[in-house]
Amino acid sequence: AEPPAVAAVPQAGAESLVLLRRVGVVDPGSLDDYRAHGGYAALRRAFALGPAGVIREVTEAGLVGRGGAAFPTGRKWSATAQQPDHPHYLVCNADESEPGTFKDRVLMEGDPYALIEAMTVAGYATGAHRGYLYLRGEYPRALRRLRTAIDRARARGFLGKDVMSQGFAFDIEIRRGAGAYICGEETAIFNSIEGRRGEPRSKPPFPVEKGLFGKPTAVNNVETLVNVLPILIEGAQAYARTGTGTSTGTKLFCVSGTVARPGVYELPFGATLRELLELAGPPETLRAVLLGGAAGGFVRPDELDVPLTFEGTRAAGTTLGSGVVLVLDEGVELPRILLRIAEFFRDESCGQCVPCRVGTVRQEEALHRLKDRTGAAAAGDIALLRDVGQAMRDASICGLGQTAWNAVESAIDRLGAFK
Ligand code: NAI
Ligand code: SF4
Repeated sequence: AEPPAVAAVPQAGAESLVLLRRVGVVDPGSLDDYRAHGGYAALRRAFALGPAGVIREVTEAGLVGRGGAAFPTGRKWSATAQQPDHPHYLVCNADESEPGTFKDRVLMEGDPYALIEAMTVAGYATGAHRGYLYLRGEYPRALRRLRTAIDRARARGFLGKDVMSQGFAFDIEIRRGAGAYICGEETAIFNSIEGRRGEPRSKPPFPVEKGLFGKPTAVNNVETLVNVLPILIEGAQAYARTGTGTSTGTKLFCVSGTVARPGVYELPFGATLRELLELAGPPETLRAVLLGGAAGGFVRPDELDVPLTFEGTRAAGTTLGSGVVLVLDEGVELPRILLRIAEFFRDESCGQCVPCRVGTVRQEEALHRLKDRTGAAAAGDIALLRDVGQAMRDASICGLGQTAWNAVESAIDRLGAFK
């Protein structure tokens, strides 16, 4: 069934929007409308700069990945471009599945040509002639619009054997996920595209060296890629003037929970959580805000001045992750939320490695018991959770197992859950 449309929340100061500026403004089905709103100016500039020039701009702009891990995009592209093994591939990770994350969906549904253009720039910079767009299976509207955009771009020479008559060949194929959270892990995507079971591979080797079909591959999140367009149009220095020294540009935040106006907001890095909540309409009695999603951590009501930057949220003991801002009021039953998170990880663990396969089950069992316990009665299970959590963090193959205990630990240590 078609999920309801998610709108970018109309924001005051809409003229300063960068990533969302065309969403709700352009006709997502019209290449001409996209071009009338600045489309394909960035690719034109990319061809003028050459691949190395594009990578230099992206590096100087300080762009880091928006999927959650904040790895420097320029470094990733440069490492891919330099690999002697060929062909190179580009993979756009559009399998947005982190609970509470829906920003990439808004970009893909509202401005699909921007992603197609940005992927073409990334392919040009990294020496890839083929891009795979790995799309979450539950995004049928995005699928339709991206398919139309790819077909129309190809028909008009913006994809294909000779993109914009510049002698560069590039095309994009969409592959759909089938509902598994783990298939958003970058190496599980490779397995999925190759027709294998969607399980993560051990890293290193990193995808830049051995990725899709064993070849050098740049994997980038949708929001990361779309940032490349303003970087090329404004120039790296102008782009980096927004935000802070180490978190440059703007960020999309997915606000959900007990707020008056849930949705996707775009703010410059460095705005505080309090400012974001004011825009979204906070609850009268705030219990906590979960930042960074199920693998993230909780912020208390007395900590709302935390700056929304990678470094600021890290210092506050959490993470910005993929931009999840889940607001909980005093009415929530925290143990039930934690249990739901634990169920999610147990369900989505691919089962390949023991610490995660067994640890996520033990974690859920302990949280079941803890639902009705506090104080001394809870101490044994909390100690067990810590042991299991540490084992998962230290010994799991991929990010799912390594972070499956984060939110539970944060609730115990920062919110005094089960006291
Ligand atoms: P990671 O830190 O292992 O890697 C981040 C990126 O940097 C990867 O592309 C990796 O290949 C690359 N990289 C790291 N070290 C490298 C090196 N030395 N040389 C070349 N490339 C290198 O993180 P991972 O596991 O890829 O992602 C974890 C994040 O994903 C978490 O922060 C989580 O919040 C987020 N996430 C987001 C979801 C979403 O729906 N947006 C869903 C689930 C998790
Ligand atoms: Fe699979 Fe979990 Fe191991 Fe990741 S950590 S490979 S999800 S079992």
